[in-house]
Amino acid sequence: MTMSKFDLAFALIPTICFITDGDTIDETNNAFLTFFECDTTETFMKKHRCVCNLFEPRDDFLQKRMDGLSWIEYVVQHPEIFHKALIRSTVFSIVANAYQHAHGTSYVVLMQKLDEKSLAQGKLLEQYKHVVDRSAIVSKTDKRGIITYVNDRFCEISGYRKEELLGKPHNIIRHPDMPAETFRRMWQTILAKRPWYGIVKNRKKDGSSYYVDTVINPIVDCDGEIIEFIGIRYDVTHLETMKNNLYDELEETQKELIYRLGEISESRSLETGDHVKRVAEYSKLLAVKAGLSEHDASLLHLASPMHDIGKIGIPDNVLHKHDELTAEEWAIMRLHCEKGYNLLKSSERPILRAAAIVAREHHERWDGEGYPRGLQGESIHLFGRITAIADVFDALGSDRSYKKAWEDRAIFDYLKAQRGSQFDPYLIDVFFENLDQFLQIRDAYRERS
Ligand code: C2E
Ligand code: SIN
Ligand code: SIN
Ligand code: SIN
Ligand code: FE
Ligand code: FE
Repeated sequence: MTMSKFDLAFALIPTICFITDGDTIDETNNAFLTFFECDTTETFMKKHRCVCNLFEPRDDFLQKRMDGLSWIEYVVQHPEIFHKALIRSTVFSIVANAYQHAHGTSYVVLMQKLDEKSLAQGKLLEQYKHVVDRSAIVSKTDKRGIITYVNDRFCEISGYRKEELLGKPHNIIRHPDMPAETFRRMWQTILAKRPWYGIVKNRKKDGSSYYVDTVINPIVDCDGEIIEFIGIRYDVTHLETMKNNLYDELEETQKELIYRLGEISESRSLETGDHVKRVAEYSKLLAVKAGLSEHDASLLHLASPMHDIGKIGIPDNVLHKHDELTAEEWAIMRLHCEKGYNLLKSSERPILRAAAIVAREHHERWDGEGYPRGLQGESIHLFGRITAIADVFDALGSDRSYKKAWEDRAIFDYLKAQRGSQFDPYLIDVFFENLDQFLQIRDAYRERS
């Protein structure tokens, strides 16, 4: 064997290295021989499998799947992979570089001792990875959102097995309650290479739901291309459920209080049962049919029961009179609108603000002849115009201390006759187009009492 042209280089390289053509060992440097405590007769032209007996890289340091290759062959065939080997408690990084020569191809296999620091960093990184994996619900998807990795906790909480998730689109766990807009925004964010944060309601395999506080991180390579997305989530089902229950409780309490308030005015004025509840239902139905948003219709539903709250400020002798009111009594009675308004107007709550408007404007007339302010047409708030029809429709069909309930025919004739004078003509049309549904509400409340 001639003097190797690499001798100098070998001597200078402080790391162990040897050359192989991929099958047999060609040359080794002294550092190699020293490390393995052998001489050239033991290695020269030997199948490198024999060297493998000298040092057994630990499984978890070299790639698991060796495809039946020796680890040197594996390193040579997969130069793109970062290989590590643990040999006699020293960790080496191993790279193979092919070089062409007259007789074919040989490989320089460099075994670079990993210094303590980079090793510690590597270990630290591993540890962080394991900490996240143990404590969080983790998944990875490719650029299109196809799942490429899920950890055990992901499987546990979603109720799916790994095999059922890998290769599937991530929206397999999407809950129908989640607005599509949320995911549109999420994709916009992560495709712009920014992390996305949010609380997401997900759907388990069995159809039940869970909430996760989520961050989805785009992983970008050195060219700035997105490689994958890593989703890290924490289970906040318990908190979200508590929060939702609290909201429901608050809303129920508000509704309850409002009905109680409405009932006070009802019982004070000795109106027949459930007047305020029916007015609430009629108002909401009319609002929906007239094209108001679901939100506004709900607001009116909650606010309209308080339309006559000002009657609590009207003296009994007027409120409970069994006869027609005198001019003075009538003047007092008409004050119930402003009294109700003054009671509610200073609240910041949307429901009470809506209720203040309704209390003040439910006796205004389309033709401007109503009270208290004589507003006309669309200058009367829509909530007031709607409640006016609901109120009169219900009052005419009910006994009062001063009058008997009217027949249906008479009620309908009256509402039609007042189309465009007392009432908003458009709303009267909407009312009659949906008359059967108004009568259904009335029947439902009759059956209750
Ligand atoms: P309410 O009994 O809840 O009636 C609400 C609205 O339904 C009335 O507003 C009116 O627009 C309509 N309405 C009720 N009964 C009749 C009726 O027999 N004929 C006609 N055309 N419309 C009827 P309004 O008129 O502004 O009255 C407001 C409130 O004043 C009534 O609330 C009721 O509490 C009281 N009120 C009105 N008229 C009399 C009355 O003659 N005697 C007594 N004691 N109270 C009255
Ligand atoms: C080893 O287990 O030491 C490596 C396997 C091989 O090189 O064949
Ligand atoms: C997704 O939910 O579709 C984004 C991917 C991920 O959660 O990692
Ligand atoms: C509702 O829209 O029904 C409630 C509005 C509120 O008071 O926040
Ligand atoms: Fe009223
Ligand atoms: Fe009323």
